[in-house]
Amino acid sequence: MKAARDSEELRILLRRSAIERRIRQLGRQITTDFRGQRLHLIGVLKGASIFLSDLIREIRLEVSLDFIAVSSYGQSNRSSGQVRLTKDLDNPIEGLHTILVEDILDTGRTIAYLQRVIRQRRPRSLRVATLLSKSGPRVKEVRPDYIGFEIPNEFVVGYGLDFAERYRNLRDICVLQLPGGELSR
Ligand code: PRP
Repeated sequence: MKAARDSEELRILLRRSAIERRIRQLGRQITTDFRGQRLHLIGVLKGASIFLSDLIREIRLEVSLDFIAVSSYGQSNRSSGQVRLTKDLDNPIEGLHTILVEDILDTGRTIAYLQRVIRQRRPRSLRVATLLSKSGPRVKEVRPDYIGFEIPNEFVVGYGLDFAERYRNLRDICVLQLPGGELSR
């Protein structure tokens, strides 16, 4: 099946097998770090849903999950982006060990905002796991506890990440190139 439109080019950056291997390692690391404890994962819709669903099955602990969603104003120009909550958590997290699960860290705005929101709910602890961390400049300083891959400052799609809601279903993570198009996430 052909995934890309004619004018768009996809170049594989991370293959499914490498992603799987890395997620197994992250799962083992998290299992060790929280040994004997109950854990609560918070996935950020929509991109992180695929990562979270694979990660949670690699964690050998009592683990629950919830989702939160945000939207950024000015999608085409993220530098003017302001983050706002569009779906809150379903359940309270007071007293729980929590991990915020993201697909990609770019400017840092989304994670910085969500850390603030989640800390107000008084979890016992809050860590951050991101599958991808971009090398570009951050607007907000964020230090994730678990990083799958450091990647170059390019526009990536697949494995949950989209371009105009497309490509989330790709098994690999690919760099998307448009003819003459400037893309930023
Ligand atoms: C993407 C990604 C992160 C955010 C990272 O979400 O899933 O949440 O951008 O960027 P930042 O570090 O610059 O804040 P997007 O707004 O594309 O929504 P989606 O997950 O629904 O695709």
